[in-house]
Amino acid sequence: MNVFLGITGASGAPYAARLLRALSAAGCEVGVAISDAGVQVCATELYGDISLSREDVTARLADGLDGLSVLGLRDYSTPYASGSARVDGYVVCPCSMSTAASIAAGAMANLIHRAASVALKEERKLLLVPRETPLSTIHLENLLRLRRAGATVVFAAPGFYHAPQTIDDLVNFVVARCLDQLGIDQTLVGRWGQ
Ligand SMILES: Cc1cc2nc3c(=O)[nH]c(=O)nc-3n(C[C@H](O)[C@H](O)[C@H](O)COP(=O)(O)O)c2cc1C
Repeated sequence: MNVFLGITGASGAPYAARLLRALSAAGCEVGVAISDAGVQVCATELYGDISLSREDVTARLADGLDGLSVLGLRDYSTPYASGSARVDGYVVCPCSMSTAASIAAGAMANLIHRAASVALKEERKLLLVPRETPLSTIHLENLLRLRRAGATVVFAAPGFYHAPQTIDDLVNFVVARCLDQLGIDQTLVGRWGQ
């Protein structure tokens, strides 16, 4: 399976890191693009050092993972920039309100917006994982527009009915929902009633 993962500057970098690990472990080919703000949020939330460079953050995120290609944020020569490429799923995790607004507007100022736009125009699976709260009318209208255009909004809202004990359990909950949406088997979190 070939998956595009855009990581943007919303809080929730642990979801992205865990999802990346899960996709790689599932044998997926994964193209990863990180926005500038996404680099800052990863540096802060994953490594506790906002001064880390893009190269440092990328190297740490990709460390030990198979099947990853790290894409330039403005590299439109990559297959993920075109509808002609075979891509099975596109995920923006976490998805900032800024990126949601750009995708909803059809603006394509970077590869993440472009890949998401391609997913919508080609009617392919696009998952957006927003985290913002509270949400303004503008945020809600953008998310509604995206939903109507075909995107699936998987809010970064972990449940508590699986009796989480650790932060990792909460992270796994959201990542499991993403994997379910992509049709990838997951054993991170048990299913209700089983
Ligand atoms: C530590 C940190 C946390 C942030 N959390 C959020 C958030 O949860 N949701 C959001 O929409 N923006 C958040 N922002 C603001 C975005 O990063 C900012 O709007 C940025 O322009 C988004 O750009 P991007 O979509 O290209 O990543 C956060 C910024 C920082 C530095």
